[in-house]
Amino acid sequence: MSIERTFSMIKPDSVRKNVIGQINSMIEKAGFKIIAQKMVHLTMRQAEHFYDIHKDRPFYSDLCNFLSSGPVVAQVLSKDNAVSDYRKLLGSTNPLEAEEGTIRKAYGESIDYNAAHGSDSPETALREISFFFNNLEIFDR
Ligand code: CMP
Repeated sequence: MSIERTFSMIKPDSVRKNVIGQINSMIEKAGFKIIAQKMVHLTMRQAEHFYDIHKDRPFYSDLCNFLSSGPVVAQVLSKDNAVSDYRKLLGSTNPLEAEEGTIRKAYGESIDYNAAHGSDSPETALREISFFFNNLEIFDR
């Protein structure tokens, strides 16, 4: 398996709790490299664009309101098998069902406030990375 990139976003609930560093520590201890990172406060329109794939779901409006409610930390992570390994490190979408040792078990509160996001496929990762970063902002190392 070759090195792969995935997109991660530390959501407004975790930024408010001041656990950016603790989540980054879990990411690094799990063998990922953070090869790009920035803090951004999205507008409602930008949040709607980012979560466009969910636009027909009943939770879309609440999700976009939450995502634009405060700053997020957008990241690019690299590792072998990064997309699926980061989904495992995140744990179940609903933190109440998340396994011990996962980010959502440690910091998530509910399915709406679930601490962090990770791409669900390599194709989604490409789209989500390019939503936030250009190539000059990503540092393979
Ligand atoms: P995330 O991985 O960021 O992808 C979409 C988000 O929608 C998800 O995390 C949850 O925070 C939120 N969400 C709210 N309700 C649901 C639901 N029923 N199923 C999936 N995601 C949901």
